[in-house]
Amino acid sequence: MQDKIRGVLFDLDGVLVDTAKYHYQAWSQLAESLGFSFTEKDNERLKGVSRQASLEILLSIGNVSLTDKQKENAMAEKNANYVEMISKMTPGGILPGALELLKELREKGIKTALGSASKNAPIILERTGLDQYLDAVVDGNRTSQAKPDPEVFLLGASDLNLKPGECVVFEDAEAGVEAGKAGGMLTVGIGHEDQLGAADALFPNLKGVSWTMITEALEKS
Ligand code: BG6
Ligand code: MG
Repeated sequence: MQDKIRGVLFDLDGVLVDTAKYHYQAWSQLAESLGFSFTEKDNERLKGVSRQASLEILLSIGNVSLTDKQKENAMAEKNANYVEMISKMTPGGILPGALELLKELREKGIKTALGSASKNAPIILERTGLDQYLDAVVDGNRTSQAKPDPEVFLLGASDLNLKPGECVVFEDAEAGVEAGKAGGMLTVGIGHEDQLGAADALFPNLKGVSWTMITEALEKS
């Protein structure tokens, strides 16, 4: 197994960086301006989901209907708040263990790519310095199909000149694990069994997780 894997495709939000709290704050502000409150539990439903689909979920929670134009304005308002927050990010926003793993992969000659739904990935990568550790970047600016469609990861594998079967996907969202599997890749879930039980291997987070531990867990699957 270890010889066969030549690339790792990383989701961004919730796997490499701690941005869920900023998405939550920005969506909460929007909900408040629309007259309802939005809980952290509700926010779980937005993980891995595109901006537009997130807005639809938020509106259904608040039982609010908006015109298309109002929806566009609402997304722009949410995104402006979110961008203000992520523009202040530093390397401290990288989740524990993520940088160590990226460095280890580089030393071992395993290629790495980003596979994210976010259109804001370039700002986050630049602010945290993660861009130096990725061989390719596929984000929401390059894709037309949202996860669980495998498009984002198939593009990542192709950018790395690898076959899907030579890649492992790291994901914290159920739709992301489904996307990796649909693309023919092995999957590592980062989070809880409840959402990520379908992944080939599971870790609560990347803290102290080495490449050897990951390949051993995948071999057992
Ligand atoms: C995903 C996040 O990575 O990106 C979602 O998990 C988010 O919560 C989606 O909605 C789109 O992000 P952005 O930055 O383009 O609004
Ligand atoms: Mg994620």
